[in-house]
Amino acid sequence: MKKITIAIDGFSSSGKSSMARQLAATIGYAYIDSGAMYRAVALYCLENDIITGDGIIDTERLEKCLPQINIGFEVNPVSGRSEVTLNGVNVENCIRTLEISNVVSRVAAVPAVRHAMVAIQQQLGIKKGIVMDGRDIGTTVFPDAEMKIYVNADAQVRAERRYKELLEKGQSVEFDEVLKNVKERDYIDMTREESPLRKAPDAILLDNSHMTPEEQNEALLQIFKRITNA
Ligand code: CDP
Repeated sequence: MKKITIAIDGFSSSGKSSMARQLAATIGYAYIDSGAMYRAVALYCLENDIITGDGIIDTERLEKCLPQINIGFEVNPVSGRSEVTLNGVNVENCIRTLEISNVVSRVAAVPAVRHAMVAIQQQLGIKKGIVMDGRDIGTTVFPDAEMKIYVNADAQVRAERRYKELLEKGQSVEFDEVLKNVKERDYIDMTREESPLRKAPDAILLDNSHMTPEEQNEALLQIFKRITNA
């Protein structure tokens, strides 16, 4: 069967990544988490004092350093999942913290960062057969994607999901901090100049506030089958 490109965009902590990964596994496509790339760049910025903990960026230095920030993916041989690398080092376990979440959207709003990441993402999807999730996949990275989904859920619900996830990972966080971060990232992602978070006109809206993971996976699979006549 001819492979297509699948773009899944949406708000922070909306469960896009889980549903995108699950769909890719079910249909035998590659899965790329574009947010992990921006998180890895944010990690580089924090490690090299290009951004302060409260989000003040030295944009000029960041632009100069960009050629030295190599972002890639490698497959974890145990889980089979693709994991993000920063200059050849697997940083998957360091990028999902609230510390990174608190600065990532500011890093991702820098146009030069976006141009560099979008170029890598387009290269990764050149042969199709890919599910990519993010904020601008259906609008900027793959505007011709055959299947586009725009995911949303109530901010309170999204913060509860992320809070639970962080606690399960052993991170000590306050719920109010997580909710504040979710709302702040929504705002920055929607109002930035360069490829802001928007629903592509041809994207299908999926509100998963009241869906179980199984229900949302099934909904996505049905959309895929309909689009591909499978
Ligand atoms: O926390 P969540 O999983 O929802 O976010 P993520 O997918 O890991 O993305 C982290 C951040 O990267 C987002 O809040 C956006 O600011 C930024 N991002 C972006 O600007 N464009 C993308 N295609 C993906 C992520």
